[in-house]
Amino acid sequence: MKKLRLGVLASGRGSNLQAIMDRCQAGSLVAEVVVVISDKPAAYALERARRAGIAAYGLEMAAFPSKREYEQAVVELLREAGVQLLCLAGYMRLVGEPLLQAFPNKIMNIHPALLPSFPGLHGQRDALQYGVKISGCTVHFIDEGMDTGPIILQAAVPVLGDDTEETLAARILEQEHRLYPEAIQLYAEGRLEVEGRRVYIK
Ligand code: GRF
Repeated sequence: MKKLRLGVLASGRGSNLQAIMDRCQAGSLVAEVVVVISDKPAAYALERARRAGIAAYGLEMAAFPSKREYEQAVVELLREAGVQLLCLAGYMRLVGEPLLQAFPNKIMNIHPALLPSFPGLHGQRDALQYGVKISGCTVHFIDEGMDTGPIILQAAVPVLGDDTEETLAARILEQEHRLYPEAIQLYAEGRLEVEGRRVYIK
């Protein structure tokens, strides 16, 4: 099987990126990360990529006249690298038209809650404050909304009585690191079929 060429967009520490790179390295994910791009030039995710010998770019949106032009530059880099699937891993921006059009149904995201509950930037905190007993994480395709695209895989994580945002986030993160590579592998095997909101695993 030929390796799937992955691009990763990340804004922060990049632990999900690391999990994906590790699984590629181990061979349990038949893919390779060929480029990592961040909207934050100081993001640790870029450092992780460089250490692994992967092309890494920091592109500050403020350096572009508009978000459209920023995204067009991102698309260009992804195309140059021959990216087949784009993975958002802690990318803290809403994806716009240039990226969506360049990669239709080819952008995945990981969210630290059981969607459609608790979308947005603080999935773990919002779940804890709401008082749910079970939260978790969701891998989904990206559409134009905020965390609204078709759901690929979910994992449940119990919320414990003495959980803080940090302890809950840490337990969810463990599941993220397992779930995201699994979803990418299903894609690599051509086993994901999207019909409207539903993703069928063949
Ligand atoms: C993760 O919790 C992910 O679900 C969310 O942002 C966080 C990124 O963490 N979208 P990391 O940068 O992958 O460590």
